[in-house]
Amino acid sequence: PDLAAHAQDGLTMEDVPLARIAAEIGTPTWVYSAATLRRRYRAMQAALSEAALDCEIHFAVKANPNLAVLRTLAREGAGADIVSEGELRTALAAGIAPHHVVFSGVGKTMRELRFAIGQGVGQINAESVEEIAMISAAATELGRTVDVAIRVNPDVDPLTHAKITTGKSENKFGVAMADAPALYARMAATPGIRPAGIATHIGSQITAGMGAYAAAYRALADLVRALRAQGLPVDRVDCGGGLGIPYRNEPAPSPAALAGAIRTTLGNLGVRLMMEPGRWIAGPAGVLLASVVLSKRNGARRFVILDAAMNDLVRPAMYEAWHGIVPVSPTDYVAPVSSCDVVGPVCETGDTFARNRGLPTLEPGSLVAFLDAGAYGAAMSSTYNARPLAAEVLVDGARFGVVRERQTPEALLAGQRLPDWYAA
Ligand code: LLP
Repeated sequence: PDLAAHAQDGLTMEDVPLARIAAEIGTPTWVYSAATLRRRYRAMQAALSEAALDCEIHFAVKANPNLAVLRTLAREGAGADIVSEGELRTALAAGIAPHHVVFSGVGKTMRELRFAIGQGVGQINAESVEEIAMISAAATELGRTVDVAIRVNPDVDPLTHAKITTGKSENKFGVAMADAPALYARMAATPGIRPAGIATHIGSQITAGMGAYAAAYRALADLVRALRAQGLPVDRVDCGGGLGIPYRNEPAPSPAALAGAIRTTLGNLGVRLMMEPGRWIAGPAGVLLASVVLSKRNGARRFVILDAAMNDLVRPAMYEAWHGIVPVSPTDYVAPVSSCDVVGPVCETGDTFARNRGLPTLEPGSLVAFLDAGAYGAAMSSTYNARPLAAEVLVDGARFGVVRERQTPEALLAGQRLPDWYAA
């Protein structure tokens, strides 16, 4: 890159200055890099093939359901892991083939099951005996047979935030290992269902090494052998997602480490493998671009108040998550820093993005970027405080385009009405 031009442009996404996006599109705006999405998808694929694993990647749509993001990944050959009719519709609209879709989730409704089976999804991951009955009812109603995997709960602790731990026995997810063989046998005798295999997902933002993964996968391998010993067919194992990224300075496990853990535990079973990464692929591919509204002091504390808030990026408020916050302008980027709290304008103290962060003096209108905001960012936005959903932009080389319009004030009100007895 031309360093002189860079110094002049300030922070860029690929070849596009973020300041230019802010000037044309306004703020707050999510900005995604197509190149980063492709690079990370390919890196994960390469790690799997270097470990000689036959493993399909199903991107967890919940991490980033933007159509252009999904299309970028679909073009690379990604399938989708979905958890609702809405996510299925989005994945299909992005060009992901139905047979490349896995339907996960602990509370799929009959309506969602009918829709998914009617569309021909490749696999449903069932999480309870009750759900297996619902899947059977929906499939037989449609005269179809659907591939179903049982999601097991291996009772391991992935040492991540409690709110995103999913594979401990106290969590709502999956069926207990001990109950899995009987349930699988029962599923094999259930109309409308073809028992396809087993699945797990132990948690998200896993950075504590491969221990919990390996323990879970060893338990899965034992289960596959036990099921086969009973004469039951098992041809797929879905390894879930969860690989963490370094938001700050956490040690980040590599896809190669995960591929290695899969290989040593599940590599010799002759099953088709799948995984469902969300954050690892999309997190580092996005930033949230925001403007400084004003800076103020309360006693000794300096507050930098942005035009982005917890309704846009809720992760700090919800999980005490840390996101890098960096100035965009080249002069701000190198200016001396002092401690401040970075907050949004929403009327709760929880609307705090960072405390005691080192940033320069930022005049009103200065731009900052939240780093690693491509996963569970826009996806978790709300309109709290009647704030419109922010715009989303995709950058690809020197090009950029709006891939989701900023919600208009009219759209924010649309759908609301007064009860008819208020009319008179
Ligand atoms: N598969 C299943 C069944 C899942 O529930 C999840 C995430 C994934 C795959 C993808 O996990 P990933 O590779 O992205 O870690 N909102 C939280 C994260 C919630 C994750 C929920 N499940 C956050 O912002 O940290």
